[in-house]
Amino acid sequence: MYILAFESSCDETAAAVLEMDGDKRILKSNIIASQVDIHALYGGVVPEIASRAHIEAISKITYEALDTAGVSLKDIGAIAVTNGPGLIGALLVAVNFAKSLAFANNIPLVPVDHIKGHVAANYITHAELKPPFLALVVSGGHTSFFDVKSYTGYEEIASTRDDAVGECFDKIGRVMGLPYPGGAAMDKLAQEGNKDAIPFPSPAISKNTLDFSFSGLKTAVVNYLNTKNQKGEQIPRADVAASCTKTIVDAICAKVEAALKQTGYKKIVLAGGVSANSHIRQGIERVCKKMKAQFFAPQLCLCGDNAAMIGAQGYYELLNGRVADESLNAYPS
Ligand code: KG4
Ligand code: ZN
Repeated sequence: MYILAFESSCDETAAAVLEMDGDKRILKSNIIASQVDIHALYGGVVPEIASRAHIEAISKITYEALDTAGVSLKDIGAIAVTNGPGLIGALLVAVNFAKSLAFANNIPLVPVDHIKGHVAANYITHAELKPPFLALVVSGGHTSFFDVKSYTGYEEIASTRDDAVGECFDKIGRVMGLPYPGGAAMDKLAQEGNKDAIPFPSPAISKNTLDFSFSGLKTAVVNYLNTKNQKGEQIPRADVAASCTKTIVDAICAKVEAALKQTGYKKIVLAGGVSANSHIRQGIERVCKKMKAQFFAPQLCLCGDNAAMIGAQGYYELLNGRVADESLNAYPS
């Protein structure tokens, strides 16, 4: 079955076509119109601008996704769309577009949760991957562990109590003047620095919980940078990136080890935009080797927001009978 999928929850307008049937998971096209250059001018996503840019892009990328896949609307068996969480005005663009397309062409419409979509990116990358497993979603808006009991049955077992890890990377990157969004630039810069140069507070909180807290680390690094600036001292930017990244990686690794022990799973799936981080990937790989557990992460082009992951999850939602009618709405959180 061919699935046409849409994603517009934040600052990427995306459309994709997948061929999904039983164990067959084939990505036929994956088109992303990124708004990063527009929002970079403001140092963050401006919701109204995001909505307008989604409206301008969505029709064009739909044709592109169908053409690249070599299919037409007549071949599409289901339309999947992200209906939350995300920016409400942004979400509504793809939701209404998908709704119109589905009802005008008599195609089933399947709503998909953005977070489950991120995890499902792994089904495209790893043909053999099947639930149950432990998942860690690390993105600009989320840092959460899930017990993924089935393709559609998720239980959140821990999360951040304040900022998400991506938010932390982005804020520090911004204060250091790195290109927007800061996560990818921090990853690169950290490779050149001394990870033991500066001690920063851990986001791991206590041993009694799998929850994180990134706001203390974010504030500590920003204070460190501001103090250096006020004193007119040179900022060792690579050392800051490396030390901050090490603090994050150590915390994530400690929680991954504890979560594997607590759940008894021997399989962990990493997902979300921050899953592209090379240091986090290497750290979790080391933990999994020690714990004799399997580690899965999406191919780099499927880590950030895309519609392919929404199509993959949409297939399993459809199998589970989750079809929406014209009353489908978007939810921000
Ligand atoms: O999943 P995503 O594309 O959007 C949300 O759903 O939030 O995640 C975006 C986040 C941003 O904070 C971005 O800086 C971060 O992912 N990111 C990275 C890397 N690439 C993207 N963070 C750390 N290292 C990277 N290589
Ligand atoms: Zn995302």
